[in-house]
Amino acid sequence: MKLAVLKERRNGETRVAATPETVKKYIGMGLEVAVEQGAGLASGMTDAAFAEAGATIAASAADALAGAGIVLKVRAPTDEEFGAIGKGALLIGTLAADADAAGRYAGAGIDACSMELLPRITRAQSMDVLSSQANLAGYRAVIEGAGAYDKGFPMMMTAAGTVPAANAFIMGAGVAGLQAIATARRLGGRVSATDVRPAAMEEIKSLGASFVGYEDEESKAAQTAGGYAKQLSAEFYAKQAEVVAAHIAKQDVVVCTALVQGRKAPTLVTAAMVATMKPGSVIVDIAADAGGNCALTQPGEMVVTENGVKILGFTNWPGRLPAAASALYARNLLTFLSTFWDKEAKVPKLPEEDEIVKGVTLTRGGAVVHPLMKPAA
Ligand code: NAI
Repeated sequence: MKLAVLKERRNGETRVAATPETVKKYIGMGLEVAVEQGAGLASGMTDAAFAEAGATIAASAADALAGAGIVLKVRAPTDEEFGAIGKGALLIGTLAADADAAGRYAGAGIDACSMELLPRITRAQSMDVLSSQANLAGYRAVIEGAGAYDKGFPMMMTAAGTVPAANAFIMGAGVAGLQAIATARRLGGRVSATDVRPAAMEEIKSLGASFVGYEDEESKAAQTAGGYAKQLSAEFYAKQAEVVAAHIAKQDVVVCTALVQGRKAPTLVTAAMVATMKPGSVIVDIAADAGGNCALTQPGEMVVTENGVKILGFTNWPGRLPAAASALYARNLLTFLSTFWDKEAKVPKLPEEDEIVKGVTLTRGGAVVHPLMKPAA
């Protein structure tokens, strides 16, 4: 069976869904691999490295896709790519952002698996693209925040005087936020963090940051069975905002990572809060892809407010460390495919009743099967 790896074309995507390392493993599993020319270049992987790993380099996406039974992508295929994917092919990527596309995949007979819908269970951890990418995003957010901040992060005692440590506040302590806490601590910042899930409060403290936030009976049940934060009441958010408002005025770098699955990111930093911050302070909003945690975030842009606060609303944070992000993403996909692999027939074997398979499968055999993607009755 042929496996195709395409060059990503959407929104300046820098990542790629396979690496020379994973290509070698796919060939070991009995696959023939075609990599589109230049697919890995933005991640620092040359065609020669893919060829050395055993892949055929295809001159175009259509050439790579011709006769392919498996297609690996980071983002959803473009219209042109979509048209060249064969009926019955298994498409694996992060596809769920466009809920309407499921009907098209089904119509074209493409079996689509969207990896960001993976259930948060122990068995799935090594396939978890949200975790692997969020981890890197959290790290990079602090590095970019430190770069944009016009003082230093650590306390520096010099003959000319002392530079105080930066106060860093991490909002949302999931996978990205915990990595941001660890990174800000390593840089020497004075780190505090907030979250709504009780488990996250413990994790914040265990990483040596202080917890700043509001807790009540409602937040004790703020976590879904899947590990995500629930949407909470307006009263809770108002109480949380009061605590945050007092704290944020004293912060130098604020890293926003808070998300509520399937919804717009909660607005945690209002324009009024930004107005209380010191000139030169920085807000890094990695929730920008989901609308942002700061009311003034412009997705994809850096803005400087009238009072001199820089707000970094860049999107696709993992794409800012493409080599590492591609390496982890590619391994996530390899683990998924090698877990659900028929070694005898050398083809994918995706049992419908398996919790992981059920979680990620959008379409199968020409039908939309994922409950999130089915049109409302
Ligand atoms: P996420 O990306 O959906 O959200 C980021 C963080 O924002 C979460 O910690 C959430 O509680 C927080 N948040 C939401 N609303 C907030 C508010 N109003 N104020 C402050 N913070 C707010 O979550 P992520 O990072 O993808 O994962 C959440 C949890 O899922 C993890 O900490 C872990 O417990 C679990 N998990 C389990 C995995 C597994 O077992 N395979 C893999 C990854 C995560």
